Amino acid sequence: MTANQSVTGNRTRTAIPRRFLMCPPRHFDVTYSINPWMNPGKPVDGSLAFRQWEGLRDLYRELGHTVLEIEPALGLPDMVFAANGATVVDGKVFGARFRHMERTAEGPLYLEWFQQQGFEELYWPEHINEGEGDYLVMGRRLLAGTGFRTNQRSHFEAQEFFGLPVTSLQLMNPSYYHLDTALAVLSDDEVAYYPEAFSEGSRAVLREMFPDALLATDEDAAVFGLNMLSDGRHVLLPKAATALAQQLTERGFEPIGVDLTELLKAGGSVKCCTLELRG
Ligand code: ARG
Repeated sequence: MTANQSVTGNRTRTAIPRRFLMCPPRHFDVTYSINPWMNPGKPVDGSLAFRQWEGLRDLYRELGHTVLEIEPALGLPDMVFAANGATVVDGKVFGARFRHMERTAEGPLYLEWFQQQGFEELYWPEHINEGEGDYLVMGRRLLAGTGFRTNQRSHFEAQEFFGLPVTSLQLMNPSYYHLDTALAVLSDDEVAYYPEAFSEGSRAVLREMFPDALLATDEDAAVFGLNMLSDGRHVLLPKAATALAQQLTERGFEPIGVDLTELLKAGGSVKCCTLELRG
């Protein structure tokens, strides 16, 4: 047993070191509204947002993960949400093409970063997709959200590009506009989700695929509790999501509460700030 393992029941939880890309929120603000959380009339404390973001970055590093940073661009206040910048599996980079013109310039900036870093398989997509906001990688398959941002045709495009099976899920509630606000991957075969965010049919699919899933309460979903990141053992999630933290503990995970309240004013939290570089 090492410091990076814990056992509950018959399940050993092992943290696997990851590589993440993050974008410092130097130009973060809420100047427009493209989701129900964003209110440009409500003040944002930029320096607090920055300190909260640094807290998350430093925590990843303390847990043994590697964090790379991309330079934020002036005039792109949502660029801090690196999860939306691409989807990366097996070192292959599927670029993001944003729904709203306020964010479209981010797609090429992220793709350029990957090119500069020497990633060789870069793909500029035909259909709208917002990266890991709507694509969640789970072992050797992807769960994919549609309804508000990513076009469903992108799901097939991603399946062809990665050569991995993609399961489409229909989002219904505008407050949970990206898949990563409504569902979290905890391990290669476990998820947590908020059923009310999904269509009737997609709820049935989720029950079929994941009969033992953790289900989030209304309260935990509303504080973005599902916008969490699991390294296999530690699960970083918004501090306020206490019922989820409790359920995670019961499953042998180690929940770590993180305070990102300033970023929540733009409709984002832990997972939104983090793009995993796989392979
Ligand atoms: N304000 C951003 C938007 O609406 C928030 C993005 C959150 N990112 C995420 N991966 N859910 O596009």
